Amino acid sequence: MADLIVALDVSTKAEVADVLRRLGDSIDFYKIGLELFSAEGPDVVRLVKDAGKRVFLDLKLHDIPRTVERAVKSGATLGVDLMTIHSTGGKAMIRAAADAAASFGAAAPKILAVTALTSLDQDDLTDLGIQRAMPNQVEAMGLLAITNGADGIVCSPKEVANMNKVLIPAAQGRKVVFVTPGVRPAGAAIGDQKRVATPAGAVRDGSTHLVVGRPILEAVDPVAAAIAIRAEMDSAL
Ligand code: C5P
Repeated sequence: MADLIVALDVSTKAEVADVLRRLGDSIDFYKIGLELFSAEGPDVVRLVKDAGKRVFLDLKLHDIPRTVERAVKSGATLGVDLMTIHSTGGKAMIRAAADAAASFGAAAPKILAVTALTSLDQDDLTDLGIQRAMPNQVEAMGLLAITNGADGIVCSPKEVANMNKVLIPAAQGRKVVFVTPGVRPAGAAIGDQKRVATPAGAVRDGSTHLVVGRPILEAVDPVAAAIAIRAEMDSAL
């Protein structure tokens, strides 16, 4: 059964409290990203955890291994469930993040790698000195992450079927987490998302966690929207 995560794309604790109150029991997993964490810091993680929810802390860490190790430990101490790093930080950094998480045993957060930001195109890769075609770069970075201890990746729902095929064998029996944003229920506004998939399509293609923001937060009835998306996800099984 895939998980549904709501992106807390707001900038104050008051707005977070309002979302938690409005969505109530319909959602039990939230994503906190750079905007909110930069504004409110670890207190906002505590607020969501104290409400009994799981937290995906999406800070996309990219630094020297020792710094990333310590940041992962700080996140794990807060009790977060998922954390992101950039695979382009290299294998020592990925390994440092994975080992730091593992040191928390049963309470270890899962470490997810970003393969290539979806805002980059082929010209950007060339500027960075990367010769590979984008799909090959995404596969290579996913493999680097998984073979160095990461638990999974964040990817577009359009890539997730192929990434399942590439990464599951490489994980040698470890369970791989595939988190996909860019999900839109049939008939919903696309907004600034370019390559979207439906909730059922994403699950069918191997997403284990769907990240959804506006289709729930901006709905007239957010609880009904959350329930409808979960029903669409369940219909895939
Ligand atoms: O509102 P919407 O459903 O588009 O929100 C999706 C969430 O996933 C946002 O927090 C957005 O920053 C994040 N995300 C994304 N696309 C990526 C990476 C992250 O939409 N490639």
